[in-house]
Amino acid sequence: MPIRRISSKWAKTEAMLASSELRGLVPDTRPFNRDAVRSMLDEYGMIYVKPVNGTFGKGVIRLGKSTGSDDAYTLQAGEKQLSYPNFDGMFDALLKVKRPRPYLSQQGIELLKHEGRRFDFRVMVQMNPSGQWETTGIIGRLAHPRKIVTNYHAGGTPLPMETLMTTHLEKAERTSRSYRMELSKLGVDVASSLGRRFPGLKEIGIDVAVDVDLKPWILEVNTMPDPYIFLRLPDRSVYRRIRRYATAYGRFRRIPRASAKSKRRRLVKR
Ligand SMILES: Nc1ncnc2c1ncn2[C@@H]1O[C@H](COP(=O)(O)OP(=O)(O)O)[C@@H](O)[C@H]1O
Ligand SMILES: [Mg+2]
Repeated sequence: MPIRRISSKWAKTEAMLASSELRGLVPDTRPFNRDAVRSMLDEYGMIYVKPVNGTFGKGVIRLGKSTGSDDAYTLQAGEKQLSYPNFDGMFDALLKVKRPRPYLSQQGIELLKHEGRRFDFRVMVQMNPSGQWETTGIIGRLAHPRKIVTNYHAGGTPLPMETLMTTHLEKAERTSRSYRMELSKLGVDVASSLGRRFPGLKEIGIDVAVDVDLKPWILEVNTMPDPYIFLRLPDRSVYRRIRRYATAYGRFRRIPRASAKSKRRRLVKR
């Protein structure tokens, strides 16, 4: 069976919402339309709208509503935040900024910060060679100081989980070991659930936000996760294992030994 990929964030979110175990970890998510945006802003005060088939943080927009100020609504895409006195003004601007394709609207999570910059995590889960789901890598992504997305392709910086979480965990009297275990288990739960819905899935990369209570939230699941970000961890064994598992299920082409040898022979001849 070929490795299964699912690009629609909506299909993957629906699959998680169908699982009683995962439902509580997924921010409220609805198809994008005027009513959804209005009522979700009333309910949550801050939401993200994003393309159903997006990557690299492209087209992602953050909307805010505050009470008691003249510029009650804010919109940010990229580095600049714009303010509007009313919903209609903000929504008109949103329709201009938004890409002309399907979007979804999601409850915003206030990400934890490190040195004034937001961060979240990428949790890599793979089918190991014994056919079990295993969390093989966890890495933090620190957003560019003025951006609303943490993606590496949008100027985010990959960093070890401990660098970002130690002070937050100390305040909550938690160890990074126990937090790592919590995220690993979450990874396996998500993979098992999506794997039942989408047979052929071999690897996923989950974007996990952590809120001020240290509750992890699943922002999205990628079915073609970038393995190379894990090269940025000082512990090289993490990437090596990711690569080994991925080679076993056929993501990387195996170089047959014989041909490698004959190539070498050819090089020697020359
Ligand atoms: N609901 C949300 N609350 C807070 N931050 C979010 C939310 N959704 C997305 N983000 C931020 O935007 C980034 C990109 O969004 P994501 O859904 O992962 O789309 P993409 O496929 O473009 O990576 C996330 O990594 C996170 O930093
Ligand atoms: Mg993402």
